[in-house]
Amino acid sequence: MSEQGLLIEHAQVKYGRKVVIADASLPALRPGTLTALIGPNGAGKSTLLRGLAGLEPMTGAVTLHGQPLAPMSVAQRARQVTYMPQHLPPGLGLSVIESVMAALRVAGNGGDCLEQAYGALQRIGIAALADHMLNALSGGQRQLVSLAQLIARKPRVMLLDEPTSALDLSYQLRVMDCVRQMVGQHQLIAVIVLHDISLAARFADHIAVLREGAVVAFGAAEQVLTAQLFAEVYGVRARVERCSRQTLQVVVDSPV
Ligand SMILES: Nc1ncnc2c1ncn2[C@@H]1O[C@H](COP(=O)(O)OP(=O)(O)OP(=O)(O)O)[C@@H](O)[C@H]1O
Ligand SMILES: [Mg+2]
Repeated sequence: MSEQGLLIEHAQVKYGRKVVIADASLPALRPGTLTALIGPNGAGKSTLLRGLAGLEPMTGAVTLHGQPLAPMSVAQRARQVTYMPQHLPPGLGLSVIESVMAALRVAGNGGDCLEQAYGALQRIGIAALADHMLNALSGGQRQLVSLAQLIARKPRVMLLDEPTSALDLSYQLRVMDCVRQMVGQHQLIAVIVLHDISLAARFADHIAVLREGAVVAFGAAEQVLTAQLFAEVYGVRARVERCSRQTLQVVVDSPV
């Protein structure tokens, strides 16, 4: 029987001769799970996601439901794996709704594109922006539209690089709730880079920690997020405590 889920074994990604991801392996990421990828600036989080999205050459064994990703054509891979970059490209001269419909067509989705596109905007809570031009949006609005383009496609794998970095508190929660629901309803596999560790602890099934291109921890938040990890990986003294609602909160006190 083929392995279910996204399996990353001995992955390596380099830019020219510079090896950024050296030998990264993770336990299989199962359908219906959300994994937060955390780690310091420059650790290689974006590079790993770019490798998985097929935007940088990646060696090693990376399979989705037993199928190797490497030999897939760009179009084939794009149907299965969607990727939201950390730095979004400048908006084209399209309206928001047109851009989501275009994303659906690129992914080869049939059916009523307008209805699907509008549904995605509603899900994210930005239906009011449908007729706005992409190049006249704020940074946070642009991020929300990018996410709508992704969720409309209902991929098998969603790779999101800091999708909440420009969002206000309300939209941070809304977006994470929406991704969480999509993951459960459609049995997606989501890998999300986050710097907000409390958000990661609250929404992720697993946390993967990357340092200098290597996976140094993987597991449930309460196992992975320890004072020792924060000291070793981030160089800070931190307390991991439960708030009155029992969710984990990280309080950073000082540099080590
Ligand atoms: N196009 C590139 N060419 C050469 N080196 C690169 C390139 N992009 C990134 N790097 C290097 O690869 C390393 C990892 O970068 P990456 O962007 O993956 O880090 P990150 O974990 O996403 O960091 P951040 O939290 O700041 O986004 C860094 O040392 C960076 O300088
Ligand atoms: Mg990055």
